[in-house]
Amino acid sequence: MVRKELEQTLVLIKPDALKISLTGYILSQFSEFHTGLRFAGAKIVHVTRMLAEEHYAEHAGEPFYPSLIEYMTGRVHYPDGPHKRRVIALVFCGPDAVPKLRRIAGPTNPHDARDQAPGTIRALGTVVPVKDAEGNVVSVRLDNLVHASATREEAEREIKLWFKPSDIMPYMRAYATQVSPTDYYYKDGQLLLRRQPGSRRLIAEGDTAWQSDLEALALLAEGKPAPCTLNAVAAKYLINEVTEDD
Ligand code: RTP
Ligand code: MG
Repeated sequence: MVRKELEQTLVLIKPDALKISLTGYILSQFSEFHTGLRFAGAKIVHVTRMLAEEHYAEHAGEPFYPSLIEYMTGRVHYPDGPHKRRVIALVFCGPDAVPKLRRIAGPTNPHDARDQAPGTIRALGTVVPVKDAEGNVVSVRLDNLVHASATREEAEREIKLWFKPSDIMPYMRAYATQVSPTDYYYKDGQLLLRRQPGSRRLIAEGDTAWQSDLEALALLAEGKPAPCTLNAVAAKYLINEVTEDD
């Protein structure tokens, strides 16, 4: 639970919004002038499949899920331009941050947004049919321009997925942190306690990390089940370290 003035929410400005140059408009809609909320974090992210899959893990298995991952990684809007594939990830902070930004974002489906909440950001979005190999429409892809956390619990999970504590200034960190007692390395989806050829160090001894991440890593290192996956811990440390050009 966080102090009310430190309530935070994650916003993603998705690839379609960047492609049609709506960034300035969206930032203006979410600005302190309109919402009373302040920036706590901001980064431009080349989204890997791993990060997109972790972010939208609750939708795995849905007919629209593969197209959602293609959309979030930027492949849909920049099929020939891997260097343009990016989203802007933002943390906003202040009283009622979660419901305030959900309201301004609007309903998930842009058609519903236009019917029920004209003036919201998603009312400017697009609905695209998703077809199977035979050309039958099996679902729709909702290109809805922005993500905003739906609940305070979802905001905590998502902010910890996209941001390290050091991405957020200490005064604005809403969630418990801890100094790591050890080094943690990552290679091919595996957690390692020592450097190996081709491994990446996620966290060094003495680094400040989310306490929940360190608790999860301690369990995973012992081969025990943890409240989140290794990839959910690792993803933020791999942001902009790994690119996907296919
Ligand atoms: P978001 O997570 O992006 O803020 O969206 P949301 O809470 O309003 O909606 P959610 O149910 O979490 O869905 C996440 C994203 O998946 C796509 N979606 N497609 N075809 C469909 O029925 C469908 N349902 C969801 C959308 O792109 C949505 O933003
Ligand atoms: Mg959602």
